[in-house]
Amino acid sequence: MKLIITDDYKALSVASAKMVADTINQKQTTVLGLATGSTPVGLYQELISLYINKQVDFSHVTTFNLDEYVGLSPGHPQSYHKFMYDNFFNHVNISQENIHIPKGDNPELEEECAQYEEKIESVGQIDIQVLGIGENGHIGFNEPGSDPNGCTSLVKLSESTVEANARFFGDKELVPRLAISMGLKTILDSSKHVLLLASGEKKAGALYQMVYGEVSEDVPATFLQHHRNVTVIADKDAAKKLPKSDLIAGL
Ligand code: PGA
Repeated sequence: MKLIITDDYKALSVASAKMVADTINQKQTTVLGLATGSTPVGLYQELISLYINKQVDFSHVTTFNLDEYVGLSPGHPQSYHKFMYDNFFNHVNISQENIHIPKGDNPELEEECAQYEEKIESVGQIDIQVLGIGENGHIGFNEPGSDPNGCTSLVKLSESTVEANARFFGDKELVPRLAISMGLKTILDSSKHVLLLASGEKKAGALYQMVYGEVSEDVPATFLQHHRNVTVIADKDAAKKLPKSDLIAGL
């Protein structure tokens, strides 16, 4: 696991965008795994700037998002569909047909999960998978207790995730309790390179556990210790608990 520490969130966003853009510039048909939440917003802004400055071209890029809330239509203000279009897709030259996000309003949810997993398998591999990390150590919506052999499936949000995400909905009661999420196995097996981003002191405990904790279903991100190619970019606040000798500083 490669650890990169940055001074602040802006530097984290710039460094992660450079890594994603470099991947695309080496392979036009890059498959990106994408995440939602507050953490990758800066990454998307930096990628949009690089696109405007003609330093990256998304026309042959394919994307797969990690997850979507069950019951929200793509146009719902808090759906991850809308998040992705507002924060990223509407601002770059990505082809609509290359964008994949689970459909949380599909009445055939099991079928939706199975088809999503098949689509990921059909592209072979995800070249670079962007991940955030939950305060409880979740990745995607793989909450503590998730099966490390799990594929894309219907998952129940933990109480702490519902509370953490209530800020987006204004009211905790409005946060959906179910989601579709790529499974831990999907993420670990399909990703050639995992790029995990962590910002802010609230993530310090989860990040420490991910790097140094015992690999356990209690902290799903610890399974990344078994992946051969993980880069973590964390700002100083999130990296607070990591021993300084392990960090690559200065990006
Ligand atoms: P956040 O969420 O980026 O909004 O903190 C990360 C996550 O829950 O995976």
